[in-house]
Amino acid sequence: MNPRLLQAPVSRRLSRQDRLLASIGRALSAVSASPAGGRPLPLADVGDRAPVALSEVERRESGALMRVNHVGEVCAQALYEGQAATSADPGLQAFFKEAAAEEGDHLAWTRQRLSELGARPSLLNPVWYGGALLLGAVAGRFGDRHSLGFMVETERQVERHLAGHLERLPVADVGSRAIVEHMRRDEAGHADRAQALGAAPMPGPVRAVMHLAARIMTATAHRI
Ligand SMILES: [Fe+2]
Ligand SMILES: [Fe+2]
Repeated sequence: MNPRLLQAPVSRRLSRQDRLLASIGRALSAVSASPAGGRPLPLADVGDRAPVALSEVERRESGALMRVNHVGEVCAQALYEGQAATSADPGLQAFFKEAAAEEGDHLAWTRQRLSELGARPSLLNPVWYGGALLLGAVAGRFGDRHSLGFMVETERQVERHLAGHLERLPVADVGSRAIVEHMRRDEAGHADRAQALGAAPMPGPVRAVMHLAARIMTATAHRI
């Protein structure tokens, strides 16, 4: 018997196992206390990040808002994981993974800022991750154009959400504001790139459901 016939299924199985293990590793990293990021914290455009005296009320409000943003980044990791896993196009898989790497920076920045503010991450992060992973996989099942359309709509909603946070974050909290502003620019870039790759527009009812789900998530993460 041709030895390749024996080896091929084994190597495919191992490859699948490797991918599953890598996927589990990324999930654990996303909800861990110190996720790995590539780019340094955005500081340059705000100058000195030495702790500004925030009042207790300001510190708590910043902590709650940055907890929401951290949850958003946990979800971004899971969404792109699900979308990359369900696309058959290697180029698109690479695109989702590249976007996920930038989101990984956001994840690390928001996690670090939470610590600096003495705030804790959401207790429900494993739940958020699991739900978003499922959502990303469902979006991917509708095909690449719709998956890209889902990404465009998600990123546009996140961009608007972050712009709203820039109005709500205490003016004195220059550290959080620099992070959120940098993230807002990155999310706009993600949407633009997904649009340029041929994203299909999302139907109005789908956009409305996504908006409602995001509102429930943000309201919950603000407290829990
Ligand atoms: Fe992000
Ligand atoms: Fe993004």
